[in-house]
Amino acid sequence: MSSSRFVRACLHLPVDRTPFWFLRQAGRYMPEYMAVRKHHTLLEICRNPEIAAEVTITAAERLGVDAAIIFADLLLPLTPMGLDFEFVNGEGPVVHQPIRTLEQIQKLDTTRAGELIYVAQAIEKVGKHFAAPRADGDQLGIIGFIGAPFTLASYMIEGGGSRNYIEAKKLMYSTDGAWQLLMEKLITVLTEYAQQQVNAGADVIQIFDSWAGALSISDYREYCLAATTELVRRVQAMGVPVIYFGVDTASLLPTMKETGADVLGLDWRTPLDGARQTLGANIAVQGNLDPITLFAPQEVIERRVKEILEQNAKQPGHIFNLGHGIVPQTPVDNVIFVGELIKKHG
Ligand code: CP3
Repeated sequence: MSSSRFVRACLHLPVDRTPFWFLRQAGRYMPEYMAVRKHHTLLEICRNPEIAAEVTITAAERLGVDAAIIFADLLLPLTPMGLDFEFVNGEGPVVHQPIRTLEQIQKLDTTRAGELIYVAQAIEKVGKHFAAPRADGDQLGIIGFIGAPFTLASYMIEGGGSRNYIEAKKLMYSTDGAWQLLMEKLITVLTEYAQQQVNAGADVIQIFDSWAGALSISDYREYCLAATTELVRRVQAMGVPVIYFGVDTASLLPTMKETGADVLGLDWRTPLDGARQTLGANIAVQGNLDPITLFAPQEVIERRVKEILEQNAKQPGHIFNLGHGIVPQTPVDNVIFVGELIKKHG
């Protein structure tokens, strides 16, 4: 039996208190991260196991969380697939030659996932650091992560963030087999990448399908469900639970559950008690404080945190988190305050 309340909650087993961590917990809102960022680009940090581990550990210790998500980025696998990208300040990721045709997809390389080993090396360092149980006897969980096929494909096709996903959906609807081939290639690379992370000591893998909410239920079911289900199955076969997360997914949740993921991550628009009623008992949930609530007075934060905890008090299988990532201007003290509330009331 795992001695980590985080892993136990992922498997919907009873725990001594609700485990918690924060999406994007090591980001730009944190002065310690910004100090490192002064000397290194985001990609330099991701590709240097020493620095990536340090950034991961610093955030986890400062916040007192029950799990550390490895510092990396969703888009790292694009490089070994042959797509160049960069992070443009204030704009997010930019892929220089987005893919739009079957021919371009045929050229994507699936043989170089080994190059991503720096992420596994960072996980190993974090694992060594947190090898001993903490003061309360609990083992800190280590989260590895990968992008879901749809969300990664949307970056590869759109070339960056998107409002309407016109190019991604055009390719998805194409009848020449381009989309199916892209899904297959992504599954191949993501499986190897996840395996490296699990071999290095990741206790859980989170699959980020951040932009799945852009899809109708029919499109999700027809074009994304099979690929995502296959990926979930392969990761679970590595012996770790899977957290599957998306934003704006209220109506998609029952279909997302069909992937077989152990945990569904929810944004703040969906009350967790309602979601749990819809989803049933054999799945855990993660979430779902609105990250902007962290800008509210502490009495408001306290009410919202308690509300989320109370919605989940009756059955095991809740990991407290935000409904999406912490934004850059967030006061660190309020993030720490949420952790203290959970330790008291969770
Ligand atoms: O919590 C942590 O420890 C952060 C680790 C982390 C990063 N990216 C580093 C990062 C994680 C978990 C990610 C995942 C990721 N990357 C997602 C899924 C999560 C989500 O928020 O939905 C997505 C969609 C991306 C792609 C991406 N990377 C975008 C859209 C952006 C720009 C927007 C933004 O938040 O700034 C990034 C850049 C990025 N990745 C930053 C960090 C810390 C900020 C830029 C920087 O430090 O220079």
